[in-house]
This record gives sequence, C-alpha cells and structure tokens, in this order.
Amino acid sequence: MAASRAALSCALEQRATVVPPSSPRGKGVMPDGTSRFTLAKDGSTVYHFMGCSTFAEYTVLAEISIAKIDPAASLEKACLFGCGISTGLGAVWNNAKVEPFSSVAVFGLGAVGFAVVQAAKAVGASHIVGIDVNPNKFEMAKKLGCDVCYNPKDHGDEPMQQVLVKNSPTGFGFDYTFDCTGNVNVMRSALEAAHRGWGQCCLVGVAAAGKEIATRPFQFITGRRCFGTAFGGWKTRDAIPMLTDKMMKGEIAVDHFITHRFNGVGETTKAIDALHSGDCLRAVVHYC
Ligand SMILES: NC(=O)c1ccc[n+]([C@@H]2O[C@H](COP(=O)([O-])OP(=O)(O)OC[C@H]3O[C@@H](n4cnc5c(N)ncnc54)[C@H](O)[C@@H]3O)[C@@H](O)[C@H]2O)c1
Repeated sequence: MAASRAALSCALEQRATVVPPSSPRGKGVMPDGTSRFTLAKDGSTVYHFMGCSTFAEYTVLAEISIAKIDPAASLEKACLFGCGISTGLGAVWNNAKVEPFSSVAVFGLGAVGFAVVQAAKAVGASHIVGIDVNPNKFEMAKKLGCDVCYNPKDHGDEPMQQVLVKNSPTGFGFDYTFDCTGNVNVMRSALEAAHRGWGQCCLVGVAAAGKEIATRPFQFITGRRCFGTAFGGWKTRDAIPMLTDKMMKGEIAVDHFITHRFNGVGETTKAIDALHSGDCLRAVVHYC
C-alpha cells in the first residue's frame, strides 16, 4: 500500500531534519508558490533565498521558518546559528555521533571546520587534527582543540590521506573524518583517511554543481563509511533556541567566529567580499 502524503510527512518530521516534504525553498518562493518581493523600478519578481531573503530589512517568512529565541540573546551572536556553526556542531553530535577518546581529522578550517573541532573537543575526542591550505588558520585551530595541523602544500605530491594515515594514532587512519571544504578531491582524502574497519567520513562541504566524488570501492569493503549532513541534522525550530541558550550559558563559545562587522543592508556586498578574502570566518551585517 502506498504511504499517504500525510504519513510520509509525519515520518519525515520524526526522522529528518531540514528538508520539508515538498520544499518550495529551492524555488525561492513561499509555501503558496509566490514570492513576496518585487523590484520597485519595474515590478519584476525577486525570489526568496533559502526561504528567508535575509538580505533585506523586512521580509516575509513561512511560519515553519521561524524559531523563537531568548529575547535577551545577542542577535550578533545568535545569527551564527543560522547555518554554518550549527552545521559543524551537529555534524559531530548528531550525524557522526563522535565518541569520547576518538581520533578526528577535520579538512578545511573555516567557520564550519572550527565548529567541528570545537564539538569534537567538547565530546572528549582525544586526538584532533586540522588540515588547511591556509596556515593562518592553525593558531585558532589549536586554541579550539586541534593537536596537530597539516598544510597539504608542505607534503608535495604525497596525498594527504597517506600523510594522515601514517601519522594517525593507530597507523590505520582516523575514527572520524570531516570534509569542510566542498572540494571533491578533499572529500576523497577524508574518506580514505578514515580508519580501516570502522572509520566514518562525514561530508559537510557543499561541492560545486555537477562535481562528482571518486574512490575505489575497496575503501568501503574494508569498513569505511561515508555520509553527508544538511544543517548538522538539527531541526531548526527546536535547535536554534537550544543552541542560543547554550551559547548564553557559556557552553558554546562563538565570539571568535565574528571576524568582520558591517553596518546597513547596503554593506552586504562588502561582507560577501570579506568572506571571499580568506581571513574572514563570519561577517555580521547590522541592519539599523
Ligand atoms: N552541509 C551543510 O548543511 C552546510 C552548511 C553550511 C556550510 N556548508 C559548507 O561547508 C563548507 C565550509 O564552509 P565555511 O563557511 O567554513 O567555508 P570557508 O571558505 O570559510 O572555509 C573553507 C576552508 O577550507 C580551506 N580549504 C580550501 N581548499 C582546501 C584544500 N584543498 N585542502 C584543505 N583545506 C582547504 C580554506 O582555506 C578554508 O579555510 C562550504 O562548502 C559550505 O558550503 C555546508
């Protein structure tokens, strides 16, 4: 018997996280199929980005897109839970379910990778390594919990997975690996750096459209597993208030993520430029 739409929706509510059964978000419209924005000069439609359109001082949101947080929370900090930071934390706590005393390798030390490092440290991972082509990231990575950092550029033609496996605590790879770069070659390294027999590789980075990943099936035959995450497996409505509360209690440090600040919606493009600069983790735009 075919499952009814309502039953499927209910099952997804219980099991899944961020993808509502018939999501209009990918189309840039509200659940009723319309956009609530038009361009003043010619009346043409402007679409909603990810159901929010946050690059505006006022917006219309679907009721399901709203999470109520403690009114005393700093909005500058709480906004960090809108995507990348929550994703990194959830990838560790919800998707991979990293266990105490595990070894963890994190590829890509941007805001998402740093959140992965923090979350792994918080659950008591015993050995955490960070990998990035930008060595300026290493100081902060070590403050947050990385024991060792590697720059692939220091290892010539030797694939990073080889370097990592050789230097892993057992000599057979890492219990958990995370790709936080979105680069499909790095994803391969992350999978192949996972421990023979039980290593788990979590793909967090979003690859460019059309890109494919490659590896030898033997990597799976010999016990590695690979999976991805969307928004760290959180349900936004419950998770964002909970993460905000934890942040307010000092249980999740976030100040270090805000490296740039801008004022007014007109500076949004400056914030995007900052994000591309390589030294920005998160740019917060204050709407006056
Ligand atoms: N799955 C999800 O739900 C989700 C949510 C948010 C972000 N993301 C994705 O996570 C990824 C990371 O986001 P971010 O904001 O931290 O990005 P970022 O650009 O700030 O960080 C990426 C880091 O990877 C490093 N890097 C790039 N190429 C590398 C390579 N070949 N080897 C090692 N390191 C390399 C960069 O130097 C940088 O430090 C992006 O792909 C983003 O789209 C996914």
